[in-house]
Amino acid sequence: MTEQVPTVDMEKLVSLCRRRGFIFPSSEIYGGLSSCWDYGPLGAELKRNIKQAWWQAVVQERDDMVGMDTSILMHPQVWATSGHLEGFADSLVECKNCHQRWKADDLTGDRCPSCDGELTESRQFNLMFKTFMGPVEDEASTVYLRPETAQGMFVNFKNVLDTTRKRLPFGIAQTGKSFRNEITTGNFIFRSREFEQMEIEYFVKPGTDEEWFNYWVEERLNWYVRLGIKRENLQLRPHTEEELAHYARKCSDIDYLFPMGWAELEGIANRGDFDLTQHAEQSGKSLEYFDNETKEHFLPYIIEPAAGVDRSVLAFLCDAYDEETVKGEKRVLLHLHPTLAPFKVAILPLSRREQLVAVAKEIHADLRQCWMVSYDDTQSIGRRYRRQDETGTPFCVTVDFQSLEDNQVTIRERDTLNQIRIPISELRNTLQAKLAGEDFFVLPPGGKIWKEGGKDRQK
Ligand code: GAP
Repeated sequence: MTEQVPTVDMEKLVSLCRRRGFIFPSSEIYGGLSSCWDYGPLGAELKRNIKQAWWQAVVQERDDMVGMDTSILMHPQVWATSGHLEGFADSLVECKNCHQRWKADDLTGDRCPSCDGELTESRQFNLMFKTFMGPVEDEASTVYLRPETAQGMFVNFKNVLDTTRKRLPFGIAQTGKSFRNEITTGNFIFRSREFEQMEIEYFVKPGTDEEWFNYWVEERLNWYVRLGIKRENLQLRPHTEEELAHYARKCSDIDYLFPMGWAELEGIANRGDFDLTQHAEQSGKSLEYFDNETKEHFLPYIIEPAAGVDRSVLAFLCDAYDEETVKGEKRVLLHLHPTLAPFKVAILPLSRREQLVAVAKEIHADLRQCWMVSYDDTQSIGRRYRRQDETGTPFCVTVDFQSLEDNQVTIRERDTLNQIRIPISELRNTLQAKLAGEDFFVLPPGGKIWKEGGKDRQK
């Protein structure tokens, strides 16, 4: 493992998320519910943007992928077949003194880490949440909340094959909630009992699986980097033989350097033909693929890149968090990639004077047809800029008194504090270009450089 120190303090991040409305404890007015979280107005946007960026990369822009949205409740036999009923369990020990429960795998010694008390023998604890379907609560009506979205795609393999006429290699992708009754939770949204996944099941011809495994590892690593995560904060960790899940022939985790250290952000597994074999046997339905060229029938192998939405939210926030000093004052900012930023633009009229507000509102109405655009006319302009910096808004548009005469506004860039002044008629196209990555000082007709922010800033 690389000797590298996390640069972000978790407490600061949790406090920012609470203060600015990214993430709240669930049911907070009742004291919260352990390890459950609610995404606030900004968090919901960030999460939505992450899922959308993933969907665009793995479905929208590819010929070999389709999307699905399968149900959380599935036939109970699915979980017997998949091995979850029997094998999806952790070893649990309890302290005889303070009664705190621990995952045996997390302990280094044989005493309670909290009070040094004696521990019970370990027992297996299944992580699936049970509930009942229909009005009678008995064995026959027991169903489970899915612990992974994957099974919904395996059992639909034939449906997708028949209705889309896809040929190998091809994949299915879906995002959705999963539930695990984790023994230990914590580290904010890193491990919770209700979470969201973004999973791909990629079906390949046996023999080509190694090549596709390597392909997806690269592809997924690059996705995080393209969206702004520093490469040095990501590393690949191949699983040892002992660690491999019951279904996996091979697995590599993409680990991120979270505030508490390196931990799994996404896992990429070669599941071989385990899932299709099991489901074909137990359902009695053929899940074989017919290769038109070789005239062979066979069960495809599956490569599975499985990512967590909440862990991605945490990683993108950690990587974006920054503090600097501007003219002697501390500035907290999130360098979120424009694709992920909750708001792309903020409209800030310099005062609440009627004429200024009319122009600012007109600009707001126009731009919000394209993006999430914030409008803020409370407090001083400096404080409004800071608020936008803290929530990662890439560009602020200021409408001032001169705007009423020259029909121009200033745009301020979050990361550099540079400002340009451009005609209002050029605003939509200019912002579109800047959000797509154009150099900030490339000016539209009639535009000028207004201010260079560099000299005000100190790290
Ligand atoms: N279908 C394979 C599968 O579910 P996994 O490694 O157990 O594999 C995939 O889960 C991803 O889901 C993880 O890399 C992680 O990002 C996320 N995840 C798993 N358990 C989680 C939990 N309790 N809280 C938050 N995210 C979790």
